[in-house]
Amino acid sequence: GAERAAEIDYVFKVVVIGDSAVGKTQLLSRFTKDEFCFDSKSTIGIEFQTRTIVLNRKRIKAQIWDTAGQERYRAVTSAYYRGALGAMLVYDITKRATFDHVARWVEELRANADKAIVIMLIGNKSDLADKRAVSAEDAVEFAEEQGLFFSEASALSGDNVERVLEADRGNPW
Ligand code: GTP
Repeated sequence: GAERAAEIDYVFKVVVIGDSAVGKTQLLSRFTKDEFCFDSKSTIGIEFQTRTIVLNRKRIKAQIWDTAGQERYRAVTSAYYRGALGAMLVYDITKRATFDHVARWVEELRANADKAIVIMLIGNKSDLADKRAVSAEDAVEFAEEQGLFFSEASALSGDNVERVLEADRGNPW
């Protein structure tokens, strides 16, 4: 309501992107509700969820936008990226193709988002390390080349989710 809204000092928009089924929606629900849903459906269109965090005594509402990774459901236009201060670019550490496509997602960001956007590359599903198809070294190298932050994480176990979303000092929120 209006009273609660008045307590918010800043609203930061963050977009989540990456191929279909890498776990974007699950990362988001882990972060905003601390939940993981086993029968997750593919996202259609655009959804967003919020979580308020306190940083330096300011109340910051992170408004995190999620869209479908599947081309046919994508409603990506510049409107999706407009005003975003941060982007979480997610791939699945067990699916090499999702990492190979990361460069294309970076291009899309550079073409549509604000030049100053902070990009966090996330290798999700770190709980499936026995099925790993992308080494952390490859991801670190790519992230360094492109000037991205990088972390692996698991929406399922919750590992590193807080860290990638909140703790990094480079992040705008
Ligand atoms: P789209 O909406 O199609 O773009 O997919 P998405 O990237 O939002 O993927 P979603 O969050 O729906 O997850 C896809 C599948 O991966 C689901 O079956 C999830 O249960 C599973 N999944 C997501 N995160 C993890 C994780 O950290 N570990 C494991 N083991 N499975 C995960």
